[in-house]
Amino acid sequence: MYLTVDVKQESWDGHVGFVPQYVEEIAFSPENRIALTCGPPIMIKFVLQGLKRLNFAPEQIITTLELRMKCGVGKCGRCNIGDKYVCKDGPVFTYAELLNLPPEY
Ligand code: FES
Repeated sequence: MYLTVDVKQESWDGHVGFVPQYVEEIAFSPENRIALTCGPPIMIKFVLQGLKRLNFAPEQIITTLELRMKCGVGKCGRCNIGDKYVCKDGPVFTYAELLNLPPEY
């Protein structure tokens, strides 16, 4: 497990830096690996770009879009991307699945 914080704290002696840059700095090999990412949408967006540069296939990347959800039970219509409802069809998707959705996520 690799840990990082965005801003150094007095009691922290580990890595300091943003997750997307740290992922690329560690330079994980995609061989026999699956990447799972969750967190703020902007962080996920840049982690996905980094994983692509590290040659992870879209099928090897799994992420979540739960922050799009409101009611969570398929009634409010606030979480849809194209014909998918994040609350009912996800919220966990492979990046390969996301590539088949309109680029709204
Ligand atoms: S969160 Fe309301 S329909 Fe999905």
